[in-house]
Amino acid sequence: MKILLFGRGGQVGWELQRSLSVLGEVVALDFDATQNPQGLCGSFSDLAGLAATVQAVKPDVIVNAAAHTAVDKAESEPDFARSLNALAPGVLATEARKLGAWLVHYSTDYVFNGSGNTPWNETDATGPLSVYGQTKLEGELAVATNPKHITLRTSWVYAARGGNFAKTMLRLATEREALTVIDDQFGAPTSAELLADVTAHCLRLAMAQPALAGLYHCVAAGETNWHGYARFVLKTAQNLGWALKAGPDQVTATSTASYPTPAQRPLNSRLNTTKLQEAFGLTLPHWQNGVARMLTEITGKQ
Ligand SMILES: NC(=O)c1ccc[n+]([C@@H]2O[C@H](COP(=O)([O-])OP(=O)(O)OC[C@H]3O[C@@H](n4cnc5c(N)ncnc54)[C@H](OP(=O)(O)O)[C@@H]3O)[C@@H](O)[C@H]2O)c1
Repeated sequence: MKILLFGRGGQVGWELQRSLSVLGEVVALDFDATQNPQGLCGSFSDLAGLAATVQAVKPDVIVNAAAHTAVDKAESEPDFARSLNALAPGVLATEARKLGAWLVHYSTDYVFNGSGNTPWNETDATGPLSVYGQTKLEGELAVATNPKHITLRTSWVYAARGGNFAKTMLRLATEREALTVIDDQFGAPTSAELLADVTAHCLRLAMAQPALAGLYHCVAAGETNWHGYARFVLKTAQNLGWALKAGPDQVTATSTASYPTPAQRPLNSRLNTTKLQEAFGLTLPHWQNGVARMLTEITGKQ
C-alpha cells in the first residue's frame, strides 16, 4: 500500500510518519519541493502541482496534515488561508476520487460557535467565528466529496516537536514571576501522537469496512480550560525538576473578553467522541496522560 502524506513537518505530520509506516510505503512531503523525493510538490499554494503530484505517485491513501494553522494571522490573509485549508484539500479530494483512493483529513473545534456547555456532536450545526474556522469548515465539505474519506475534528493539539501552548507556558514560566491565562474557553488538549495512532487504526478498519468513512470527533478524554491546562503543565514540570520562576499558583485566571485577539475563539470547544469510540472500538485516554508524557519526554526524565 502506498500512502502520500502532506505536511510531514507539522506536529501531526511528524507523528504520522511514525504511525503510518507500519501500514505501507509512506511518501512524506514538505511544502518545500527541494526537500521532497523527485521534487514532488507539497505546496498547498500550488494547486496544479498538487494534482500532478497525486497523479504521479498514484497513492492508495492520501493523508493531509498540512494546513494554515495560524488562527490570528488568518484574519488578515483569508485568501491564503482558504487556499491552504479549503482549495488544496478540495484538489486532494478530486484527485483521490479519480484514483479510488482514501483521503484522511483533520479539522477543528473552531467550526463551532462555542455556545452552551455540552460537548458538540458531529451532526450539530456549525457556526465558525473566525477565518480559520470558516476555511477549515469549507475544507471538510470539500474532502467529503470523496466518499472514501475520514475527517477527524480535533482541538488544542500539542507535541514534543513544534510550537504549542504547553511549551509556550513552560518558556514564559522560566522568564516571568507570574502569568495570566484565560479560564473561560473549555476543551481538551490532544496530542499529535494520539491523533496519529488513531489515524492509523481508523484507516486500517475503514479500508476493510468502507461504511466507516465519514466525519468524527477525536480529542483526548476529560476537559479543562487554558488556565487549568497551564497550571497542570507547570505543576507537572515542577515535579519533573524544572526550575521555574512562576509555579502553578502564580497563574492568574482572566476572561476571554479581557484578552482581545484578532480571531474570535469558541468558549465551548468540547467535542463528543462517542461516535469515534463506538465505530472503531477505541478508548481515548485522559488529556493529562498525554501532556505529562510529553513533558517527561522533553525534560528527558523518567
Ligand atoms: N494545532 C492545533 O491546535 C489544532 C487544533 C485543531 C485542529 N488542528 C488541525 O490539525 C491538523 C494538523 O495541525 P498541526 O497542529 O500539526 O499543524 P502545524 O504543526 O501548524 O503543521 C501544519 C503543517 O502545514 C504545513 N504548511 C504550512 N504552510 C503550508 C503550505 N503553504 N503548503 C503546504 N504545507 C504547508 C507546515 O509546514 P512547516 O512546518 O514547514 O511550516 C506544517 O507541516 C491541521 O489540519 C489543523 O487545522 C490543529
